[in-house]
Amino acid sequence: MHSAIGSRKDFSNMDEDQLLAEYKDCLEGILDHEQVLKLDLHTQHCNTSRLQHSINVSYYSFLICYKMGWDYRSAARAGLLHDLYFYDWRVKKYIRTSHSSWHPRIALCNAKKITELNKVEIDAIEKHMWPCTPVPPRYIESYVITFVDKICAVCEFTERKYAQIAENFRRKRSFAS
Ligand SMILES: [Fe+2]
Ligand SMILES: [Fe+2]
Repeated sequence: MHSAIGSRKDFSNMDEDQLLAEYKDCLEGILDHEQVLKLDLHTQHCNTSRLQHSINVSYYSFLICYKMGWDYRSAARAGLLHDLYFYDWRVKKYIRTSHSSWHPRIALCNAKKITELNKVEIDAIEKHMWPCTPVPPRYIESYVITFVDKICAVCEFTERKYAQIAENFRRKRSFAS
């Protein structure tokens, strides 16, 4: 099990932590689903797997909604499923419109095949690319996922860049000494 980016919580032993146990409980039946695990084979935002990205979005959306007293279960579930697609967006033949508007529809269709979704989860998955797509989300939890998705994308991208910069710096220093 991947830990969420930037989190010190040990996701390999979720039952030991009360909050992680609650988070795991929200994802019962989908966290270890083969379609969800398959996301680990796909890359998202440079060097992050799509599964890692989905866990990042799911966990931090859960955390915000949990602290705010909102529907954290739907946020955790929709976060995990919001990018449940398996095509390579750089290959045009898989996309009927732009990737921004196409992949939420595919993710929603795939998510419905593996679990029953409530209206909050459907809205959150369908609208997570807003404002790149025109129709705004209807629920506060959907806004949280939309916001967290973008923050996670930036963090995942910059984490890789910072790692490259740090590695280059280390190499230069060892070469100079
Ligand atoms: Fe997405
Ligand atoms: Fe995403």
